[in-house]
Amino acid sequence: MLILSVESSCDETAVAVTENGRRVLADAIDSQVALHAVYGGVVPELASRRHAEIIAPLAERALSDAGVTRADIDAVAVTAAPGLIGALLVGVNFAKSAALALGVPLIPVHHIRGHIAANYIAHPELEPPFVALAVSGGNTLLAEVRGYTDIRVLGSTRDDAAGECFDKSARVLGLPYPGGAQLEKLAQDGDPDKYPLPRAHVAGNPLDMSFSGLKTAVVNIVHGAEQRGEEIDRASLAAAVCRAVCDTLVPRAIEALEATGLDTLAVGGGVAANAHLRAALEKACEKKGAKLYIAPLSLCGDNAAMIGCQGYYEYLAGVRADLSLNAYATMDVDALRF
Ligand code: KG4
Repeated sequence: MLILSVESSCDETAVAVTENGRRVLADAIDSQVALHAVYGGVVPELASRRHAEIIAPLAERALSDAGVTRADIDAVAVTAAPGLIGALLVGVNFAKSAALALGVPLIPVHHIRGHIAANYIAHPELEPPFVALAVSGGNTLLAEVRGYTDIRVLGSTRDDAAGECFDKSARVLGLPYPGGAQLEKLAQDGDPDKYPLPRAHVAGNPLDMSFSGLKTAVVNIVHGAEQRGEEIDRASLAAAVCRAVCDTLVPRAIEALEATGLDTLAVGGGVAANAHLRAALEKACEKKGAKLYIAPLSLCGDNAAMIGCQGYYEYLAGVRADLSLNAYATMDVDALRF
C-alpha cells in the first residue's frame, strides 16, 4: 500500500511516499531554518506562508523521487495535531484536496505518534509493546505503546518541552536558532559540574517532568553575570544544561520500563539527536538489560516519512477522516479526537 504523507506542523514542510508503513520511497523536506533564524525563533505567520508556497511542488518532487505517479497512491496521511495551527492547516487542506482529487482515503495522524513511528522505519524488527520516549521542540512524554495505535501516556512535561529548554538556553547563550544542536556542540569542551542547575520533580506522578525551572535558571545565570560584568563559561553552562536534561529524561525512561514490565525503549523526536542523551540512554539501558532503539539522526527531526509510517497503522486500525477534517494545536497522543 502506497501512502502519500504530509507534515507541516512547525517549520518543516515535508511530503513522503511510503510503502506498507516501513519502506520509504521518497522523503522530501523543505526546511525553513534560514527563514526564521533572523528572528531567533519560528514566526508562525511566515511558517504558514512558506508551507503554502512549497507544499504542492514538494509533493510533485516526492512522487518523482519515489518513481511513482499520482494514480499509484492508495491513501493520503497528514499531521493534523499538534502544532502551530496556521501551519497545520496548510498541510491538512492540501491533504484533503489530494485525497479528494485522487479518490483515496484520508488518514489524520498525531505528530508525536509519528515521532515514535520513525523507529519502525529505522528498525524493522521493532514491534509493540514497548516504552516510547518522545522528545521534541514542542512535546516531551513517555508512553506505553501497547499496539501501533494503542498508546497510553505514562508521564509528560507539565510545562516546557525539553527542546524548548534547549532552544531558549541556546538563545540566551547567543547561539543561533534552532539552538539545540548548536548547544550540544558548544557543550563539548565544557565542565557540566561548574554550574549547579535544578532537576525538577513533579508531585503526583514520578514520570512527569518540568523544564521551565531549568530554562529560567539558565536565563538567570546569564543575566546575573551580565549585570555583574562577569564572563560566563558558556561551554560549561551548555554542558550543565545537557546534563540536567539527561538527568531528567533518562531515569524516568528506566522507571517507565520498570513500571510497565517492558524491556524495550524506543526514542524519537528532534532532541533524540542529542549525543549526550543517546549515550546516557545507551548506558542506562545496558545496565538495565533493556533493548534500546533510537531514531537515526535523519528521522529525529520533523519529516513526512514518519507520518506515512504511522498513517499506515492508523489506516489498518480503521482511522479515517472526511473532508471536514480540522487541525488542532493541542491534542493528547492517547486521546485522538479528529
Ligand atoms: O522534532 P523536532 O524537529 O520538531 C518538533 O516536533 O518539535 O524537534 C526540534 C527540537 C528543537 O528544539 C531543536 O533545538 C531540538 O529538537 N534539537 C536538539 C538537537 N537537535 C535538534 N536538541 C538537543 N540536541 C540536539 N542535537
